[in-house]
Amino acid sequence: MFPPAHSQDADSSIRLTDTDASLARLSAVQKRYLEDPYIKHLVPRSHLQPPRPPLINIGTFVRATAIDDLVFQWLQRSTDLGTRCQIVSLGAGSDTRFWRIATGAHKVALAAYVELDFPEITSKKAMAIRKSRDLSAVLGNPADVTVAHGGTGLHSPTYHLFPADLRLPPADTLGTLLASPSGALLSPALPTLLLFECVLVYMTPTASSALLQWFVDYFSPEGSAVLGSIVYEMFRLQDSFGRVMVENLRARHVSLPGAAPYPDVHSLPGRFLALGFTAARALTLKEIRKSYIPRTELERISQLELIDEIEELDLVLDHYAITWGLFVSPAVAVAWGEWGLRVKAAPPVDEDEEDEE
Ligand SMILES: C[S@@+](CC[C@H](N)C(=O)[O-])C[C@H]1O[C@@H](n2cnc3c(N)ncnc32)[C@H](O)[C@@H]1O
Repeated sequence: MFPPAHSQDADSSIRLTDTDASLARLSAVQKRYLEDPYIKHLVPRSHLQPPRPPLINIGTFVRATAIDDLVFQWLQRSTDLGTRCQIVSLGAGSDTRFWRIATGAHKVALAAYVELDFPEITSKKAMAIRKSRDLSAVLGNPADVTVAHGGTGLHSPTYHLFPADLRLPPADTLGTLLASPSGALLSPALPTLLLFECVLVYMTPTASSALLQWFVDYFSPEGSAVLGSIVYEMFRLQDSFGRVMVENLRARHVSLPGAAPYPDVHSLPGRFLALGFTAARALTLKEIRKSYIPRTELERISQLELIDEIEELDLVLDHYAITWGLFVSPAVAVAWGEWGLRVKAAPPVDEDEEDEE
């Protein structure tokens, strides 16, 4: 998964977490937990990659299903309200969400999809897109697709890939790339969803807050501003299981400064509420698996692989959470207030009893 730690500087170890994430997704697709015809084009020698253990596949399934639910609700709500929307994925890595949306039922709802990551990652992605007919065909007419930033960026009518170190002052990075007065890419008038899938945890809380604050400041002057944000990452790293996770990552030169303020699930929404978001909520992957995934889907995946260590699965899932926050002006608060994960199924009685403390 990771090459020997001594050959890595801290940032290259952080960048390698993208390999980890894309291999996990590839494995979940190969084992039929998820459908994604695009991931194989973003993983080198994808046909030779061994599958991940069932526990990782289930975690990947739960996380992807819940985030897809929030993203598709965003697209659907925009469509229902007769508007298009924007999505900005920060630390996007090899994520395929743009391709899945752009070939799906909600493609017309998408005004712009922006991805940002370190230049080493975006140059690999730009290259993979250009090499794959399946990926590049989705971007539209080749005449409308341009490679930019010395090969580390790519632009098409809807999809934009930018190199950026997200720890730098956002006015210098995001301000120049997304909001330049000579032609802003992001319109503050459109509902905009920020995705932070396993990225803020690698940054200091100060740098993460500055990033979120930049978006709040950019959108809030708009009378009907709608800004949503989804964060997925590990938390509760102060308990004994969390300390083992931290030690394992430290051995690979990866530190998690962003997890320090979040000792429990109740602390997670504070990341948004402290910046003036109207509403925020967090759920652990353990809670999501039990009640926020359709029961038919849980039954389907239970047939895919044998898993004997349900307690171990719960322990791992209890250290990852999805937090979502909404920043809306009062004029549109009612229309967007319902956005969020909803209970899909009560947990089975035996699992419910296990949880009682
Ligand atoms: C664990 S991967 C997740 C990738 C993708 N979001 C996903 O869920 O599949 C973390 C990603 O965040 C990126 N990242 C971490 N810190 C960053 C920073 N300071 N600036 C830009 N990208 C960063 C890494 O390069 C990597 O691609």
